[in-house]
Amino acid sequence: MPDENEKRKKHDIAEDIMKRLSSEIEKRGIDADTILVGSLARGTALKNSDVDIFIRFSRNYERAKMERVGIELGFSIFPDATPKYAEHPYVSSVVKGTKVDIVPCYRIDFNTPKISSVDRTPLHTQYMKEKLTDKSIGEVILLKLFLRRQGIYGSELKTEGFSGYVCELLILHFGTFNNFMEHMSGLSGRLIIQDQVKEFHSPVVIVDPVDLSRNAGAAVSNDSLSILKTASKFFCLNPSEDYFYYDENENIEPVNHERGTYFLALVIERPDIIDDILFPQVHLMRRKLDEFAKIQSLPILNIFDHVEEKTVTILMEFASPALPSVEKKVGPPAGNMNVVSFIEKHIKSPDFVRGPFVENGRVIIEVRRKITQFRDIFMSNLENINFGKNLSRLKSGTSIIDNQEEIKKSYAYREFLSVKSPYLAAGKDLKK
Ligand code: UTP
Ligand code: MN
Repeated sequence: MPDENEKRKKHDIAEDIMKRLSSEIEKRGIDADTILVGSLARGTALKNSDVDIFIRFSRNYERAKMERVGIELGFSIFPDATPKYAEHPYVSSVVKGTKVDIVPCYRIDFNTPKISSVDRTPLHTQYMKEKLTDKSIGEVILLKLFLRRQGIYGSELKTEGFSGYVCELLILHFGTFNNFMEHMSGLSGRLIIQDQVKEFHSPVVIVDPVDLSRNAGAAVSNDSLSILKTASKFFCLNPSEDYFYYDENENIEPVNHERGTYFLALVIERPDIIDDILFPQVHLMRRKLDEFAKIQSLPILNIFDHVEEKTVTILMEFASPALPSVEKKVGPPAGNMNVVSFIEKHIKSPDFVRGPFVENGRVIIEVRRKITQFRDIFMSNLENINFGKNLSRLKSGTSIIDNQEEIKKSYAYREFLSVKSPYLAAGKDLKK
């Protein structure tokens, strides 16, 4: 939990930046003001929460101008910052160890429609400042810590979890962290709170009170919701402080059982794009490789993605390194006229091995398989596998590692071995 000094320090950073921004705004004669938003403004910040500063422009500015001037103002404070573009541009930097975002938006009130996607954010802060009490702030922080321990705090596409704002809405609805845990531990199906004006279909539906047409819980994936359902069951059975503990550098020593399996690691260069664009593409690439393996009848047991500073790795685990060198070609049912041409075609082939014979009413011929090693099967088919827009252009640089010793020394493998949903790590006495 953040201590008072930590909070003071962040508020000081925020105030200093806002003051400097305001004088820049005045100097340039711009119709805009600054506002502190996010968890720091609401009192719901964790120790390593960021500082979110918004610049609210008058609606008279055109979109492009608002964005350009907003970014310029950001750079006047952080000359070395890298501009970020999610669906909306902003400037981000680190001040005394704290991440600070400067985000331009339009000034709107509860009754005016938004123009850009972040215009609601100051309204969230206004809404929450009115609704949250000291007690509920404490409950929000508990919920955030609990979710973070499970790896499902944050709405980024890397995490697909619960945003800080969703945590606040959940506590307003359920009153306390414990009530929410009770609810979750007995929940089957989707998590839906509040009446829906509009129908939403995601696993979590929490209507945004400042914009009733928006589902604030849209980012939560079904897997994140499922982790919460499982973790809450264990928490309710045996509540413990372990569930709120979090150490970024926690080192879970992986147990390296002799798995008796075969691994391949497909490695590409990491493109220089933001996480919210990169991760969906990495997930797509993983799914496409998995589909490909299944279509090719490869005995794939697990597929796992791992992103490092310079590389993206897809680790695949198989029952064996190769397919048999004989392939059964299954022909049409015996009553079909094409049986004759099927047999003639394969029996004359230089790859013919055995047959024809009949199995379950169908004609079968065995032929020799030319490419048997999974490594070669992937290599020769890379072109046909969809890696997503930004990753596809890096495909030609793909390397496929099949040296088992080398793979077992990699970070990706270590990560793979130590994967467990942390509720098992948190409930340390589960094995007793
Ligand atoms: P943050 O991601 O910084 O969240 O977004 P936060 O509430 O400040 O929580 P932490 O403590 O930093 O993790 C800043 C604001 O942007 C809006 C919310 O109003 C949030 O408070 N936001 C962000 C959303 O509405 N939805 C999102 O998915 C993310
Ligand atoms: Mn924040």
